[in-house]
Amino acid sequence: MAASGGNVMERIVALCKRRGFIFPSSEIYGGINGFWDYGPLGVELKRNLKDAWWKDMVHAREDMVGLDCSIIMHPQVWKCSGHYDLFCDLMVDCRACKARFRADQLKDMQCPMKPSKHPGEHDRCDLTEPREFNLMFESYAGAVKDEENRVFLRPETAQGIFVNFKNVCDSTRVRIPFGIAQIGKSFRNEITPRNFTFRSREFEQMEIEFFCHPGESARWYEYWRDVRLRWYTDLGLTSRKLRLREHGKDELSHYSCGTSDIEYAFPFLAEGDFGELEGIAHRGDFDLRSHMEGKLVARDGKLVPDLDEQGKPKYKGSGRDLTYYDDERKERFIPHVIEPSAGADRGTLAFICEAYTVDESRPSPELMRFHPRLAPIKAAVFPLVNKDGLPEIAEPIYRAIRQRWPAQYDAKASIGKRYARMDEAGTPYCFTIDGQTKEDGTVTVRDRDTGAQTRIDKTRVVEFLAEKLGL
Ligand code: GAP
Repeated sequence: MAASGGNVMERIVALCKRRGFIFPSSEIYGGINGFWDYGPLGVELKRNLKDAWWKDMVHAREDMVGLDCSIIMHPQVWKCSGHYDLFCDLMVDCRACKARFRADQLKDMQCPMKPSKHPGEHDRCDLTEPREFNLMFESYAGAVKDEENRVFLRPETAQGIFVNFKNVCDSTRVRIPFGIAQIGKSFRNEITPRNFTFRSREFEQMEIEFFCHPGESARWYEYWRDVRLRWYTDLGLTSRKLRLREHGKDELSHYSCGTSDIEYAFPFLAEGDFGELEGIAHRGDFDLRSHMEGKLVARDGKLVPDLDEQGKPKYKGSGRDLTYYDDERKERFIPHVIEPSAGADRGTLAFICEAYTVDESRPSPELMRFHPRLAPIKAAVFPLVNKDGLPEIAEPIYRAIRQRWPAQYDAKASIGKRYARMDEAGTPYCFTIDGQTKEDGTVTVRDRDTGAQTRIDKTRVVEFLAEKLGL
């Protein structure tokens, strides 16, 4: 049974720490809010998720190429994209405790200074007026810390793709419709990072910008919504906790003709609430046009240049030609873009929450039911006792498995404890070598999810795993 209820999130966070999935960053110095480290199991899990995405979205497709751009880009990128002016949250300060909050999250925030007068709610404290707070982290490139050298850590990987659109077209044989995919770190100085890794200040994104003819963009938008939703269900997120939500007109960005979110019912949310895992946005030609012509704003349903007080363009574009010539249609146009934008950390967290299962009937009740593609360790090998010739049989089996998949060997502790450790790590299969192995050459296979044990010939272990894992 999948776990539910109030303290589930606490138990998941505790298991993540205890078993080395996720640690608070810089923990020995008290941690740093909004930053997390992935431990030995967590790094494998997150890597498996990113590899699955890359394999399914890039390698398995003929219409996708990859890219890996720098985190710090020319500051004009962020001026033309709109992030410099608009990537802000409204924040308020509590005059009592001096804490700073997102104006839209006040209700959930406790004021430690006035708990009795104002029972835990900041919206009734002494608050400053809401002010805009830009979420981009700043730094300086070069020795001089002046405006000229001010740079930003990217708040999304997407812009690296747009500004390389022409490079990719010129250096490869891609023809529209095609996509460019990128996985990489993004940074947002979130005012109130919270809910474990869900809202962090440093996180990884897996983004696709899919370029197509304007006349076909509505169809591609629907296509990508379906493909991305199915990707999560195929990897084991149940459809009951997962949903696709189409944004209402009032929620859409000024340039977007349509956006859907793939959302998951994370256990830290109230019953019936969902949190965003991925957004699929129809961005029209906003991004390429902005990098060509300069920052745009929407007026009367049209994109027009954003002008300063003198009526001049506020931020100049690159001036480069980012149009595309379609030689089949004999037509030049600015491609439309469909953007499926996923978070690798949110995805990892969703798969952790989904996998976390409590089964009180088992000797050790907590287990992680990861899909075989995502499981950090695919198999474990145990000699029942660390003597009597059993390690000599177990070790070659372990080495054979390790040639193909990450595996663990454990010869210590009771067999129950060894199974429990592997259940918590989410290892799909354990192979135990015992006295009978010496007599008939068979080993015990234990299935993580059912706990059922069967025997197979020791020469069939790798073949068995290949079949069961499908990898
Ligand atoms: N290029 C579009 C874009 O960045 P977004 O909705 O702001 O869109 C896309 O971000 C995804 O990135 C989100 O669905 C989420 O999975 C992840 N993400 C965004 N902010 C995050 C944060 N502070 N912590 C962790 N993941 C985040």
